[in-house]
Amino acid sequence: MLAYRHAFHAGNHADVLKHAIALYCLDYLQQKPVGLTVVDTHAGAGRYSVDAKLVRDKAEYQTGVGRLWPMKDANMPGLIRDYMAQIRLVNDEQLQYLPGSALMLAQQLRPIDSLRACEIHPTDHPILQETLAPFGRKVKALKSDGFVQLKAALPPISRRALVLMDPSFEIKTDYDKAITALRDAVARFASGCYVIWLPMLQRFEVDRFVRQVMNMPVANKLHVAFRVRDPLKDGLGLMGSHVIVLNPPYGLEQACREAMPWLVKQLGQDPSASFELLKEAKPFVPAASAKGTSGRSGPTRRTRSPAGTSSTPRSRPPQ
Ligand SMILES: C[S@@+](CC[C@H](N)C(=O)[O-])C[C@H]1O[C@@H](n2cnc3c(N)ncnc32)[C@H](O)[C@@H]1O
Repeated sequence: MLAYRHAFHAGNHADVLKHAIALYCLDYLQQKPVGLTVVDTHAGAGRYSVDAKLVRDKAEYQTGVGRLWPMKDANMPGLIRDYMAQIRLVNDEQLQYLPGSALMLAQQLRPIDSLRACEIHPTDHPILQETLAPFGRKVKALKSDGFVQLKAALPPISRRALVLMDPSFEIKTDYDKAITALRDAVARFASGCYVIWLPMLQRFEVDRFVRQVMNMPVANKLHVAFRVRDPLKDGLGLMGSHVIVLNPPYGLEQACREAMPWLVKQLGQDPSASFELLKEAKPFVPAASAKGTSGRSGPTRRTRSPAGTSSTPRSRPPQ
């Protein structure tokens, strides 16, 4: 029984970070005139109306996209400006629709690219299918396990692939399933670009997952940790999110350095709001002793850059 519905969370701070990074990766990989295979392993419904009951219930978008919507694009860092351009593409004057990952990726595809968007929820899959129908037969909304589809899609004939892995982590076993699928994917296709999202929670599984991904046999990795607030008094609750990119494209790190201080300022919910960028795994801290420390789940080595640096460089020839 799947209880998770992304509509509750659509357009929140986690979506902003994840979508902005995924779009940057897609844009960069498309600089080369070779077909790209895109796999969205956990796609959700693809598009959400701010009037829908589930969206209105928690209205999380008001702490994410909703805050950015009234701002002038010219004042945004490049990473966020490009993301907002996708949001504006499906809206008129008012913010009415929150595009999900699959719609955002589909909107940016070239005719030579393809997208497999996987969603197993019996209610969300038909919505996804309808949302993606206008994009033609190279864009597929599959009612299928995203981990299984990942195996089927890799390695792609063109040797170019972008994977967005965004599980709901509803049950603890999702962490192990995701790691197993990623290890298999990397073994089959080590040069793919993998964008992996996970929640920032005070849980052993989260810290272990981050370490496991950062220890995968891929030369380049980028870990972006975006904390928006303290945990609740009982230590529970979403504090923010992590995005890890295996084989991050050229310029992504710099784009994040420019965007993150701004995002912290715009979307931070209390004074603990912060970000960290890492390129290697943090040292192992056993869960038992970690409990008694600062209670922060972010990584240890900060690599902040001064705010207000130049705009996002993406023009290096693709690898
Ligand atoms: C976090 S949401 C996805 C949000 C979406 N990627 C976005 O950014 O708009 C995770 C989704 O994965 C679906 N899901 C859970 N297990 C899955 C699986 N094994 N394969 C495909 N989809 C799955 C859930 O029903 C849920 O809609």
